[in-house]
Amino acid sequence: MNEKEVMQIEQTRMANVYAKKNLVITRGKGATLWDINGREYIDCMGSYGVAIVGHCHPKVVEAIKQQSETLISCHGSMYNDSRSRLLEKLVQITPTGLDKAFLSNSGAEAVECAIKLARKQSGKKEVIAMMGAYHGKTMGALSATWDKKYRDPFLPLVPGFKHVPYGNPERLRDAATADTAAMLVEPIQGEGGVRVPPQGYLNEVREICDEKQILMIADEVQTGFGRTGKIFACEHSKVIPDIMCLAKAVGGGLPLGITIARQDVMSSLKLGEHSTTFGGNPLVCAAASAAIDVLITERLAERAAELGAHFIKRLERLQAEHSIVREVRGVGLMIGVETRFDVLNILQKLMAGGIIALDAGRNIVRFLPPLVISREQLDTVANSMDKVLTEEEDERLRGSATG
Ligand SMILES: Cc1ncc(COP(=O)(O)O)c(C=O)c1O
Repeated sequence: MNEKEVMQIEQTRMANVYAKKNLVITRGKGATLWDINGREYIDCMGSYGVAIVGHCHPKVVEAIKQQSETLISCHGSMYNDSRSRLLEKLVQITPTGLDKAFLSNSGAEAVECAIKLARKQSGKKEVIAMMGAYHGKTMGALSATWDKKYRDPFLPLVPGFKHVPYGNPERLRDAATADTAAMLVEPIQGEGGVRVPPQGYLNEVREICDEKQILMIADEVQTGFGRTGKIFACEHSKVIPDIMCLAKAVGGGLPLGITIARQDVMSSLKLGEHSTTFGGNPLVCAAASAAIDVLITERLAERAAELGAHFIKRLERLQAEHSIVREVRGVGLMIGVETRFDVLNILQKLMAGGIIALDAGRNIVRFLPPLVISREQLDTVANSMDKVLTEEEDERLRGSATG
């Protein structure tokens, strides 16, 4: 199939719910992607934050090969060695006390389970989420997601959800009632625009939850697995939630969602109250175990901290030089550049120059590269940003001069 044929089939046969880039990707290695014509790209999108250990990491590939020759599917109602190995590895890296997991297939599912768990364990109904939050698009997760454009076409959503301003502990405290089961929070908001809350915020969320006997759910679907320079972003504040949601990178590139909680919390779900056919299948578990090994042995969280600091410094220099840049923010290799205008042009120009980046809202360029990206690749990205921002500024100046 050639480029045109691939695009045509997806446009005709696939639900039209993704804003497609004009790109047919056929191969990946580390932080590099190739299109169907052999053109090379630096990947700063990482499949929306999935490719933390890099594309086709040899250890993950080997684990998938081996497991696929042994056993691919095995329902959760039977024991399996690959699944047990993953669970053991997982609790080595999760915060102390979070050691009983439900395995599913996506971030939204990890959140769904957390919501059910919170209601079941507490016997209460309400969940307080944050303005700007993104937790996925299934009905429960969508009820916690903030953006109207995702919610409004599907009303009514699940009752019992309310939203308070992100980063504001007072409003959170005021919103709690005797029927509040959980507070659901992203340590850094990803889709909401790479929003880093004020220092101490997560500690205050924890305090309010303790004081009012409310469960704290941390959605680490995007921030987890080394992305922010710690294995989990909650570690920056030394906060341990009661329930943590993981997905994206944890499967080494395969679909895996994880809801992990304290024993006493997870044990409130009784036989048959929650399940999913594919959750924790041997193939995904083998890939996830390999990905955890890579995360630890290649010290990817430390790498994210070092490379992220370097890249942010380079981007901050651009902010000083380009008036269209309003702010550079982020932690580790989860970085946003807020501009004064829509970023669509910037993203398209970056792509034309061989760099794939993301948006996060209308005016934010977001970088979620694999943590194995090289310093040289990040420098190339910074140089391209410089060029593209200069072009954008020139065009806008010309536009306003003639307009
Ligand atoms: C914080 C957060 N939670 C949940 C989700 C939903 O994950 P999925 O798309 O795998 O359902 C996302 C996806 O971007 C996310 O960033």
